[in-house]
Amino acid sequence: MSEFSVRDFYDRLAGDYHLMFRDWDASVAHQAGVLGELVRQGLGPGPQRVLDCSCGIGTQAIGLAAAGHRVVGGDLSPVAAARASAEAAARGGRVPAVAADMRRLPFADRAFDAIVCADNSLPHLLSGEDVRTALLGMGRVLREDGLLMVTVRNYDEARRARPTTTPPQVSGTSAGKVITFQLWHWHEDGERYDLEHFQLVPAGGTWDVRVRRTTYWALTRSQLTEFVAGAGFTDITWHSPESSGYYQPVLTARRGGPDGGSVPPARFVRP
Ligand SMILES: C[S@@+](CC[C@H](N)C(=O)[O-])C[C@H]1O[C@@H](n2cnc3c(N)ncnc32)[C@H](O)[C@@H]1O
Repeated sequence: MSEFSVRDFYDRLAGDYHLMFRDWDASVAHQAGVLGELVRQGLGPGPQRVLDCSCGIGTQAIGLAAAGHRVVGGDLSPVAAARASAEAAARGGRVPAVAADMRRLPFADRAFDAIVCADNSLPHLLSGEDVRTALLGMGRVLREDGLLMVTVRNYDEARRARPTTTPPQVSGTSAGKVITFQLWHWHEDGERYDLEHFQLVPAGGTWDVRVRRTTYWALTRSQLTEFVAGAGFTDITWHSPESSGYYQPVLTARRGGPDGGSVPPARFVRP
């Protein structure tokens, strides 16, 4: 699927994105709590300069900014990035956010102490070359020993189970309940799948059905570890949902020295 279609998917979803959460503001606060703690453990109390390179409508960026960090957002979708800035401002915060492809980050070398790439954004890149390019770019804009945080679905499990649908998520609105679910159509390679994203929105006694389509690469933890190590990151650690309190596995890693650094195997943190 083309780059344009990922952007189109999120441009069209941006206005409805919060409806995938039972309570988006509560998720903003919770996610910032967990990721903020990883930042504190890795870099100290801060405030830190944080780039959220796939900020979407700001689910992680807004809470991290509210916690005092200097957060900049970037996202392939200009509509989502604009909403992130607007939602931050509506809550009395500040998240400058730009339309930017994580494969071509428009920021100076070593401009950030930490980079967040959360909620399954990296797996939108469908080739090894694209994943490598993105991670090398993140390394370029991170300061030496800076912290990388990537969160992804548990694709080790999905690659085994090959689900074809996700459970419905229900969000209450003043007009009634909004239902969101996905259909997954696996490619023959067993690694990538096309996703149909359904939202059923109440519309005067009937449903308005909104369908959007995109493609993901179901990267396993070992595949992603290899890419991150290959881009020169060190101290690669996976935090399970049980250990971190985040709803997805979280990878943390440190930017190596000027020449990249050695490539030790990943550690897995369990409760
Ligand atoms: C599942 S959403 C997560 C958004 C946000 N992190 C959140 O949790 O609300 C994935 C995000 O990745 C962004 N994205 C996909 N490919 C990208 C790319 N090449 N560069 C930057 N952002 C990208 C999408 O536009 C979308 O906002």
